[in-house]
Amino acid sequence: MQTKIAIPEAFQISNQIHQKTYLINGELRTWNGKSSEVISTISSTDEYAHTILGSIPDMGEEEALEVLDTALAAYDKGQGVWPTMKVKDRIECMESFVKKMEEKREEVVKLLMWEIGKSLPDSYKEFDRTVEYIYDTIEDYKQLDRNSAKFEKHDGVYAHIRRGPLGVVLCLGPYNYPLNETFALLIPALIMGNTAVFKPAKHGVLLITPLLEAFQSSFPKGVVNILFGRGRAVAAPIMKTGKVDVLALIGNSKSANALQDQHPKSNRLRLVLGLEAKNPAIVLPDADLDLTVNECIAGTLSFNGQRCTALKVLYVHEDVKEEFLKRFSEKVDALKFGNPWDEGVKLTPLPEPGKPAYIQELLDDAKAKGAKILNKKGGKHSDNYIWPAVLYPVSKDMRVYEEEQFGPIIPVVSFKDIEEPLDDMAESNYGQQVSLFGKDVYTLSPLIDTLANLVCRVNLNSSCQRGPDVYPFTGRKDSAQSTLSVHDALRSFSIRTFVAFKDNELNNETIEQLLEAKVSNFLSTDYIL
Ligand code: G3H
Repeated sequence: MQTKIAIPEAFQISNQIHQKTYLINGELRTWNGKSSEVISTISSTDEYAHTILGSIPDMGEEEALEVLDTALAAYDKGQGVWPTMKVKDRIECMESFVKKMEEKREEVVKLLMWEIGKSLPDSYKEFDRTVEYIYDTIEDYKQLDRNSAKFEKHDGVYAHIRRGPLGVVLCLGPYNYPLNETFALLIPALIMGNTAVFKPAKHGVLLITPLLEAFQSSFPKGVVNILFGRGRAVAAPIMKTGKVDVLALIGNSKSANALQDQHPKSNRLRLVLGLEAKNPAIVLPDADLDLTVNECIAGTLSFNGQRCTALKVLYVHEDVKEEFLKRFSEKVDALKFGNPWDEGVKLTPLPEPGKPAYIQELLDDAKAKGAKILNKKGGKHSDNYIWPAVLYPVSKDMRVYEEEQFGPIIPVVSFKDIEEPLDDMAESNYGQQVSLFGKDVYTLSPLIDTLANLVCRVNLNSSCQRGPDVYPFTGRKDSAQSTLSVHDALRSFSIRTFVAFKDNELNNETIEQLLEAKVSNFLSTDYIL
């Protein structure tokens, strides 16, 4: 007889969620086809067993193409209600959506914990950060609109320049931030007047379901369409049609390349991609070790290292290596593992059932090539976890050096000459961020100058991270394409388009009449306050 584990009442799964609808053409249509089970790797009983959370529609090509057609119809070659709507009215729809979304906070947070194992404080943070992102996007768009409410004149030609939508966006997000990162694509794409097809991530999919109604009731029909299923089954056929204008994806370059390759005219396709990374920390001999250890713990192990911005390799100078590794290993072993709602928990179950075995493979490979696990608990298995191992010395022939581990394992490389990590970074396939720990300004200055050209964010005595979301989030090489931030995303999902006219009596009179009549939504000098 299995005994139920103690779970706070508010977080118990009393009823499974069997999602039977998807959002198409403004309608929550019932799905009668196959469904796939959604499980959590968190056990509800003393003896380990995964928990069944519910199920989602397992849709295929036919439905995917129908969903795409509704997005195309809503865009209607740029003539649709949404792409031609007044900015003010689009903003109203978004405001209505975010208000309804806020009501679903508890439901979404509970599912974030069960589906991806994110701790309670971090789940609240993900939700709240997303809501804030939407409000910030609205404010930024108002400013963008105010900045365009004017005419310029050069060489006798007037211009009224705005940013217009691109068309249909296919939006795919990652499982580690199934709400935040997906919405950081979807929201700017929508507000700029594009229509969208959105497929939730492979884990963190049920948590989107409480929001379907808010999407349905806040936007005109066909503007946002949400379908479920495997990427290969639904996203690939959509791309093959060549009718997608923007591929917005946060995930890995392999899937991005595969999808991009399906598009018959890739020159027409805009890419907004946040991809994998292998952000290094570089610890210089004069680094403040207490601060460095703390930042490296947060950098390597927040959400078990399942962040694209996580520190995935630590370069530590020979002079401080011993002391750093001792303090760092102790701190790793002192972290608390538990279920997401447990007080003070830092390490939580891994949502991918196969992840502990993958991490074990990396460990075995590194050990066979000469690395040692420095912390006592490193590599210890439980049913849904493998304790983070601090691995040293790591060399280039090891898989853990090359692959983006995206999980709890910390490779450490020592160096004598700063050129060693710099050369490695230059050779690496990735170029997102770096953390640089040290104090001497004469050492730091030339390093900052070089590092800024190898990655897109140099974090000084701080772990790597995406936020605050007003800052640019991008990367070089295989790490990204386009830039995301509250402001930059509005640019990424739009194009400059304008009305121009020669300065003569006829044109000036016509424009004056156009402005007075207030019938064009594009040509307008009205200010949104
Ligand atoms: O997975 C990558 C995320 O963009 C990381 O965001 O640095 O705020 O955790 P974060």
